[in-house]
Amino acid sequence: MDSNTIQQSAAYEKEKQLNRQIEAYWDERSTDFSKLRQKELKGPCAPAWQAYLKKKLPAERELKILDIGTGAGFFAILLSKLGHKVTGIDMSADMLHQAKQNALVMDCRADFRKMDAQELAFPDNHFDAVLSRNLTWTLPDAMEAYRQWRRVLKAGGLLLNFDSDYGLTAFSRKEDQADVHANIRQELVTECNAIKEELRISTHRRPQWDREFLCSLGMEVEVEEDIAPQVRVDKEMHFDTLPLFCICARK
Ligand SMILES: C[S@@+](CC[C@H](N)C(=O)[O-])C[C@H]1O[C@@H](n2cnc3c(N)ncnc32)[C@H](O)[C@@H]1O
Repeated sequence: MDSNTIQQSAAYEKEKQLNRQIEAYWDERSTDFSKLRQKELKGPCAPAWQAYLKKKLPAERELKILDIGTGAGFFAILLSKLGHKVTGIDMSADMLHQAKQNALVMDCRADFRKMDAQELAFPDNHFDAVLSRNLTWTLPDAMEAYRQWRRVLKAGGLLLNFDSDYGLTAFSRKEDQADVHANIRQELVTECNAIKEELRISTHRRPQWDREFLCSLGMEVEVEEDIAPQVRVDKEMHFDTLPLFCICARK
């Protein structure tokens, strides 16, 4: 093997290992994470998100939508309730278990599948829209993810990504029970910060990086720098204070 091939296979192995660590991290967090999402689904954030998503998505027809990194099923449930045909994917089996339970309780029919956001097992040109919230910051290969998301979109289809620029932030454990990082073991918080430091996306400033990369894929891109005031409307839930950006890219 030449030195290039050795380097490539070492990088590949490192990425696989990171993906396994990330999966185990979210498996462990799934129960508490789901409790917060249940609260969000029952409170004023849910209709606020539905109103926001309705504004962005084409109106008055059933859409085929992919929710990537669905977690406990938040977007999948809201969008099924709006009458769309939704598939939610996640790499964490435990999160998917929570998503299925939550969908059942909310009486909605979404399809949930275990899948890696960076390696989609769907055909080309398959979905009217792909959406994701709070996922891209934790991907070892966000560029490949974006290529795959574009690939599965129909021509004219819409990619919506909601995320924050977490790269420069260190997460910390909180006593506040309404915080997303309540009830996490300190070791897990430390591990999450360590994983984040390994990720290339943490070195990019966002959403500028996302805009440029999606434009380079030939997509038409619009960015809203902070939509938090429109969707984080539940005073009882304590969200992080970073801006929540929305990237809207058309194939
Ligand atoms: C912060 S949670 C967000 C969940 C959901 N989108 C929400 O807003 O409630 C991130 C989710 O992404 C999932 N995830 C992380 N890496 C992934 C990957 N490579 N492929 C699919 N899902 C992934 C995790 O398992 C977790 O459920």
